[in-house]
Amino acid sequence: MMTQQQAQASYDAQDLWHKDKKHFIHPFTDFSLFHEKGCDLITDSDGIYVEDVHGNRFIDGIAGLWCVNVGHGRAEIGQAMAEQATRMAYFSTFNNLSNAPATELAAKLAELAPAHLNHVFYSCGGSTANDATIRLVHYYFNRLGKPSKKRILSRTNAYHGTTYMAASLTGIASNNWQFDTLDLVTHLSEANCYRRPEGMSETEYCDHLLNELEQTIDRLGADNIAAFIAEPIMGAGGVLVAPQGYHSRVQAVCRANDILFIADEVVTGFGRLGHFFASEAVFETQPDIINVAKGFPQATPHWGQR
Ligand SMILES: Cc1ncc(COP(=O)(O)O)c(C=O)c1O
Repeated sequence: MMTQQQAQASYDAQDLWHKDKKHFIHPFTDFSLFHEKGCDLITDSDGIYVEDVHGNRFIDGIAGLWCVNVGHGRAEIGQAMAEQATRMAYFSTFNNLSNAPATELAAKLAELAPAHLNHVFYSCGGSTANDATIRLVHYYFNRLGKPSKKRILSRTNAYHGTTYMAASLTGIASNNWQFDTLDLVTHLSEANCYRRPEGMSETEYCDHLLNELEQTIDRLGADNIAAFIAEPIMGAGGVLVAPQGYHSRVQAVCRANDILFIADEVVTGFGRLGHFFASEAVFETQPDIINVAKGFPQATPHWGQR
């Protein structure tokens, strides 16, 4: 149902449609179709519903872009945002400066995260969290005197975002079609238990994936590999569930080879799998870094003590 304020701020559907078509570059868009048809414009939301400019109501099944975890129109969230915006709009946290809300949130996240993860680094979203992570991982190994450890292991059909590095980590071929990617990533097979090869048991399939991982490490050399990154459940690639024990076995191989294990929990954290962080609670892994975003104010790699 539209609130009084929303009803007052009604839009001119034609005007909006023309402005959008003329000026707005949309991501992930087929422009031949877009030039002809333009966009469906959403103007309002309430709970699980959104409403378009013509007043048609839809269930927002994907929750925005996996980010409206607690539904639209939460007055208490709006109020907290308004109070903060009027109290202090922004302050830098560079060098030895900080601001109170960022500090409080870091402490809260450290409390919610698995016990071994106690440090938070902020970014602006999931893609930039993954970018910042890889940059920091490279820096980490440089500082340890291991500058050859640069390559990142990712997986086919993984989705890690749209910035240059995050898109390079992504393994969905159509996302990168005719785009350049950075030559820093090796993609392993996706872990898709449902579509595993005909006649293979779940355990045999897990062995098969682990075998591929070990062979890849042998081929590239552990001295050249910095990290392995994975979504605990692959989201945009098809909501793909790995075989039982896959993540913890991968982590053990990484540990044995001095390869950092990064969990991209951008769409699995904050309640989606019943826990604030799924890595330990659901998949029994202790990642070196967990990246979170969406449905939560900022993206944060969590740094553990190794
Ligand atoms: C697993 C995962 N990582 C990263 C991202 C990128 O996040 P953002 O859109 O906030 O840049 C997404 C987006 O859906 C995602 O699903």
